[in-house]
Amino acid sequence: MFSRLATRSVATSSRTLTRPATQSWNRGMKVLAILYRGGDAAKQEPRLLGAVENELGLRQWLESQGHEYIVSDSKEGPQSDLAKHIKDAEVVITTPFHPGYLTRELIDTAKNLKVCVTAGVGSDHVDLNAAVERKIQVLEVTGSNVTSVAEHVVMSILLLVRNFVPAHEMIERGDWMVSEVARNAYDLEGKVVGTIGAGRIGYRVLERLMPFDTKEHLYYDYNGLPAEAEAKVRARRVEDLKDMVSQCDIVTVNAPLHEGTRGLVNADLLKHFKKGAWLVNTARGAICDKDAVAAALKSGQLTGYAGDVWNVQPAPRDHVWRTMKNSLGGGNGMVPHYSGTTLDAQARYAAGTREILENYFTGKAQTPANIIVGVGKYETKAYGQR
Ligand code: NAI
Repeated sequence: MFSRLATRSVATSSRTLTRPATQSWNRGMKVLAILYRGGDAAKQEPRLLGAVENELGLRQWLESQGHEYIVSDSKEGPQSDLAKHIKDAEVVITTPFHPGYLTRELIDTAKNLKVCVTAGVGSDHVDLNAAVERKIQVLEVTGSNVTSVAEHVVMSILLLVRNFVPAHEMIERGDWMVSEVARNAYDLEGKVVGTIGAGRIGYRVLERLMPFDTKEHLYYDYNGLPAEAEAKVRARRVEDLKDMVSQCDIVTVNAPLHEGTRGLVNADLLKHFKKGAWLVNTARGAICDKDAVAAALKSGQLTGYAGDVWNVQPAPRDHVWRTMKNSLGGGNGMVPHYSGTTLDAQARYAAGTREILENYFTGKAQTPANIIVGVGKYETKAYGQR
């Protein structure tokens, strides 16, 4: 695997120490985790490690080290456990699936905060600029769920292109009218697919599309791929985003959310899409303008939109993406944020979270690819060009 795209990078001598070696550490730290409530499912399925009930499997270990471990799903508003406990927590863990939004205002109240750990991939729920200024490190378990998401993207592309959801709903209703669903079903073979962002997930999507005999693979990313990597997935870089989307039958979004991608897919960009294109976004909801996407689906500019990420999570009951449809009653492949939290992925990001904490407690260097924000500076190149 090409190094930028690999799930783990090789240890180097230039690794950043996460904790000054002279500092006394180890016992009595307050660790706060904001996770999603798992309910009965989490009681019945202990491998749902990312749920409040199963606490990332960390309680026994953390307490045996003398640390205090607070786990909650309460994250909104001044009375939430997040607002209450962040005031003196040294470490905050959250998952992108139920993100504790660490705004600048909240970070201002966090007098003791040194490390934010994302149990998963994608740390946009933290105000990263505020973290840089406050010298709070932001670490994530890079690569832990990239295959899980890439598989979901390929599935979403297929279900949109083949008009799967309305066909299944028809069967559940007890109806049988092949023409109703076949009139909007196509083959993936021969289609042009473009990815916004060709990092670990975007690249894996292109790899997984190879056997479908797609016509062409395009990508838009300020970090270009090595020629060998491009050749392996038949990818052609397009320098201009409008130019790229105008050539694609299918666009998939695989870039992080940052200042340069928030609202990137808006009404103006959607005008440049091929009429009737399909759009899949498993990166972050706020990269696509909610109302512009719904309007494009209604007008036929888009034939379908699918993904698992929402501008606010949990999404409100009346969020337009829950029910929006194209004019033929299909084109909606939305699900809750779960593509990166398969049981396989949970095992990986729980183990990765523990490794990050272990490194922090013992002053060991963190794996470089896991460092989004180091002490006082961005370490990643994926959150915009700086
Ligand atoms: P990565 O860091 O390997 O790749 C991201 C790529 O996006 C980089 O090549 C970067 O240069 C590119 N990029 C950044 N800004 C861009 C822009 N303005 N235009 C075009 N390209 C841009 O990250 P990875 O692992 O591929 O993950 C990507 C994102 O997917 C994460 O940041 C996260 O938001 C999301 N994700 C979603 C999950 C889910 O469960 N739905 C799970 C894991 C990640």
